[in-house]
Order: sequence, then structure tokens, then C-alpha cells
Amino acid sequence: PLMKDLFGLVELEEKIKKAYGLRKVVVIPGDSESSPEVKRELGRAGARTLLSFVENGDTIAVTGGSTLAEVAEQMSPLAAGPLKGTWFVPARGGLGESMEIQANTIASKMAKRVGAEYRLLHVPDLLSEDAYQSLVQDQHIQEIVDVIRRSRIIIHGIGDAMEMARRRKLDEDSIRSLQQDGAIAESFGYYFSEEGAVVHKMLTLGLRLEDIMQTETIIGIAGGRSKGKAIHAVLKFGHEDILVTDEAAALEVEKEI
Ligand code: BG6
Repeated sequence: PLMKDLFGLVELEEKIKKAYGLRKVVVIPGDSESSPEVKRELGRAGARTLLSFVENGDTIAVTGGSTLAEVAEQMSPLAAGPLKGTWFVPARGGLGESMEIQANTIASKMAKRVGAEYRLLHVPDLLSEDAYQSLVQDQHIQEIVDVIRRSRIIIHGIGDAMEMARRRKLDEDSIRSLQQDGAIAESFGYYFSEEGAVVHKMLTLGLRLEDIMQTETIIGIAGGRSKGKAIHAVLKFGHEDILVTDEAAALEVEKEI
């Protein structure tokens, strides 16, 4: 651990909570980037936090990513019994990322773990204008997109803009223009500047910015020292309610306050 004293972590949680006007902040000890054990703990903290907000009948939209995959892995059946009327859905289309970390895979896994229902959205993460125009007319897709857009809870990962651009295999021109626009963070298909402004959005189906602004509970989960600036950028965007992170990232976020 970077900071042995748990009291220090509670202080850090309070400081971040106040600085960004959040409802709740959870900081676990260590650095999830350098330790798989800490990443598991981060997933466990995410699962616990998410389940503490779920009420039966909710729809929960989840993004992809290795952190969310760990949250799903750490979910276990609730003592109160299965969440039969609760739905897990992917926040956006996600085919294109590797199977294990696609939002569809994660939504279905979470649902199975807690005895909830799920619906999937079988469209790619990144769409061409033509593909978008035809998919958006499809009735089945419209139905599921409507469900996604009405989610009461969103749980999402946060990535470093350049790393996510590379993971999504954006071409050199797009990467350069993201850099020029000052993209620091990526989350749910949007790229954010240091000040929390949206500088770029991917053409994708699912949650839109206006949905995100209206969602009752938004939970961001991300850890690791290198994600500090990205987390700050998404918090500056100003629509997060809950942050689950680790000490290494939280100490970087603190420097930005
Ligand atoms: C993506 C999410 O799948 O994962 C993004 O759509 C997020 O919102 C990213 O930025 C984070 O990935 P990881 O592997 O760092 O948790």
C-alpha cells in the first residue's frame, strides 16, 4: 500500500467528494494498475457499491472495459434473493472490443450473478455513418435502445483518451485531432478535455449525452496512477454521482483539485 493509514483514505474520499460535489466516493488502498489483487478489490468495491443502490425493477446500463469485467466477476447472489425484475443492459454497442470486456458480455454476466434479467445490443462500438443510419431504423434495435436510454443507474469505466483511441484502433488522423482538441479522458464513447468539456463523440448506438445528464445515479469506476487526469476530466464534466477508485488514482486526482 502507498498509504498505510486507513484514516488517510477516508480523508481523501471526503476531499474528492467535496471538491466535485459527489454523493459518495470509495477509495481502496493500493494501485490496481500494478497489482491484479488490487484490481480485484476495486471490482469488489464496485460491485458492493452498485448493489447498494439497486432497487428491484431498475434498469442498469453498464459499459465495457477490464474494470467493469472485474466488477461483474466480483458480484455474488444477494442475501435478499434474486433481482428478478431488474434489467442489465449494455450502455452502448460494443462489438469490436475483445469478447471478455464487451459491455454485452458484462451485462449478461452481472445479471446471471444476481438472478436479474438482461437484454443485449448487437451492434459494433464504432459505426460508419451509413451503418448508423440503417441500424437506427431497425425496430428491434430501437426497442432496446429505448430501454437503455431510460436506465436509472449507469455504471461505467473511465479510460485515458489516447489509450482508448489506440484500443479502438482509431486511425492516425483521428488520434491527432483528438490530441489537438485536448482529449484527456474517454468514457461511454465520449472524449473529454481537462476542463470536462466533450471534445469528440463516437458514432455509436445507445446512451447519449442527454440521457447521461438525466440519469438518477451515475457510478464511475476506475483506478491506477495513470488514470488520475482522466478521472479528473470526467468528474469536471459534472454528471457523476459516485466514484469508486483506488489510492494511486485518488492521489493523482487530489493534485488536480
Ligand atoms: C470501455 C468503456 O469499454 O472501457 C469506457 O466504454 C472506458 O467507458 C473503458 O473508458 C475503460 O477500460 P478499462 O479496461 O481501463 O477499465
